[in-house]
Amino acid sequence: MAVRRILLLGEEALRDPGVEVEAFDDELRALVEDLLETMYFAEGIGLAAPQIGVSRRVCVLDLRDEDDPEGGRWVFVNPVIVESSDEEDKATEGCLSIPEMEEVVTRSARVTVRGFDAEGQAVEVEADGLLARALQHEIDHLDGVLFIDRLTTYKRRALLKKWRKSQKEGAKG
Ligand code: NI
Repeated sequence: MAVRRILLLGEEALRDPGVEVEAFDDELRALVEDLLETMYFAEGIGLAAPQIGVSRRVCVLDLRDEDDPEGGRWVFVNPVIVESSDEEDKATEGCLSIPEMEEVVTRSARVTVRGFDAEGQAVEVEADGLLARALQHEIDHLDGVLFIDRLTTYKRRALLKKWRKSQKEGAKG
């Protein structure tokens, strides 16, 4: 298990679509452990394998709260959105690969996702609210898509400008 470096916007591997997992083996379980450890270290609620430079269709999420200490943790291998509501929902999103940048993103209010856990057991979830949003965000990562791609051109340009400025300041400091 290890905390891995999270790729940042501009690094090409972040845009590589993930390859479907075929073997539910020790290598996959090690990848899942690394994803969880890296997500907790970065204090994120979700992380996808392409974000640590591994082009596999694997993501993890943890939306646990005090009411539900165990229920909010999800490992998804080869997840697919099998249903999504026409009803949409707007909320502010950020991403560990674009630190400190946030913007309002429109997504389906409800989704049904099917996939597998690290042992190869089928997992299905019908989600709404934050989980629905987080699942769509992470599954986007598996296709090399970032939340900024879902903004209007105007908003994306404004965010990228802010991002470049913050990166320059970071390099100086
Ligand atoms: Ni993200």
